[in-house]
Amino acid sequence: MESRYKQYNYIENLAQYEGKEIVLNGWVADKTEKGKLIFIQLRDGTGTNQCVVFKGNVSESVFENAKKLTQESSVRIVGQVRKDDRAQSGYEIDVNDLSIYQLSQNYPITPKEHGDAFLMAHRHLWLRSSRQHAIMRVRASVIKAIKDFFDGNGFKQVDSPMLTPSACEGTSTLFETKYFDLGSAYLSQSGQLYAEASALALGKVYTFGPAFRAELSKTRKHLTEFWMVEPEMAFFDLQDDMDLAEDMVEYIVQYVLKNNLRELNTLERDITKLEKIRRPFYRLSYDEAVDWLQKNDIPLIRKVDNQEVEIRPFPWGEDFGAPQEEALMEQFDKPCIIHRYPASVKAFYMKRDPNNPEVVLAMDMLATEKGGEIIGGSQREDDENLLLERIRHENLPEDDYQWYLDLRRYGSVPHSGFGLGIERTVKWITGAAHIREVIPFPRMINKIYP
Ligand code: 4AD
Ligand code: MG
Repeated sequence: MESRYKQYNYIENLAQYEGKEIVLNGWVADKTEKGKLIFIQLRDGTGTNQCVVFKGNVSESVFENAKKLTQESSVRIVGQVRKDDRAQSGYEIDVNDLSIYQLSQNYPITPKEHGDAFLMAHRHLWLRSSRQHAIMRVRASVIKAIKDFFDGNGFKQVDSPMLTPSACEGTSTLFETKYFDLGSAYLSQSGQLYAEASALALGKVYTFGPAFRAELSKTRKHLTEFWMVEPEMAFFDLQDDMDLAEDMVEYIVQYVLKNNLRELNTLERDITKLEKIRRPFYRLSYDEAVDWLQKNDIPLIRKVDNQEVEIRPFPWGEDFGAPQEEALMEQFDKPCIIHRYPASVKAFYMKRDPNNPEVVLAMDMLATEKGGEIIGGSQREDDENLLLERIRHENLPEDDYQWYLDLRRYGSVPHSGFGLGIERTVKWITGAAHIREVIPFPRMINKIYP
């Protein structure tokens, strides 16, 4: 189909235009002058490439305009694509014509080093820098890979609402908002409960959207608004759920390796580490993981009166935090799934293990290289009475969950699902130091601008 909107030439496709004249629109990332030559690093959204203005090739006014260019001025360049083996991209542009959209003055982000706080306050501009650009492209690939994976495996995307009457992942991290005459609504912590309803209607579904948590955790891995993909499958048990999670994560990492080598190189990512992310991953039961922690003298760390106290041996029944997860993962070059956690540390909707009612059929996937938990999932409680017991035990408002209990009253089936945090995954794959770098506009406890 012929497109009706403007078809520009883009830097990422330069190879297609070797020897030809093209039009590029973009911004000046950098500029240097040497006598009759002006070198412009032109950034067009798809990449950055050197454009050379030679005084002998252009009119007087074009050369004067090129001289005036400042960092982040916006320009239109007409030029010839020339093969040049010394250039990083393999090509240079010999400029024939140049016009200015706007001359930028005193762009705040200069090539010198800036502090984190300054860059975060200028996130709307910081996104243009080569590192951030590379991260955003990997992020887009991760999302594309996820959609391709599910769409290609018989799943339907059925999105869940963001405004909800009740909690999914514990009542302590809910964002509350007034909702007309109906009292309070809450921003969704997870699309899971609604995905379960969709799965009983469509079989295999996934919901993809933002999740909100008023988390008081101020870490490199927590946002108050993050994106999550949540597949939910009727007739899947925990085993199927773990197999699917493994297949999906392998697919995502290999997809990025295939499509984003340039970005991974910009980020100086050790690619050999990612190449190893192939099935089968490791699996440990919670019991086995606790055994390992105890044998290796990794304590539980608890805050008592603002003091950190180490408790040895690590007590069965406690949840793992970053110190335990990182210690455990040091031995592995692939992700590890930990399954069958104590019921007391997991959500109300998880199904008890028929072989041991102390534990639930839960699973978390931990990433390599201190990536931490990227996936949380489980088989769901499918018995009405057991689920009701759990809802009462957690003091959740029974009325709000009647529709959810209906799923157990009318054709209940075994079913399972999980949630993959997009930012945790992108942070892991790109090797970014902080989660705030892998979402365009991060939301954290102390951050809502820009
Ligand atoms: O383990 P979580 O809380 O699981 C759920 O929400 C389930 N309802 C998912 C399901 O079974 N459908 O969250 C899932 C994932 C985590 O493993 C992590 O990757 C990410 O979401 N996540 C966060 N990412 C960034 N900031 C936060 N505050 C996050 N909380 C969870
Ligand atoms: Mg979790």
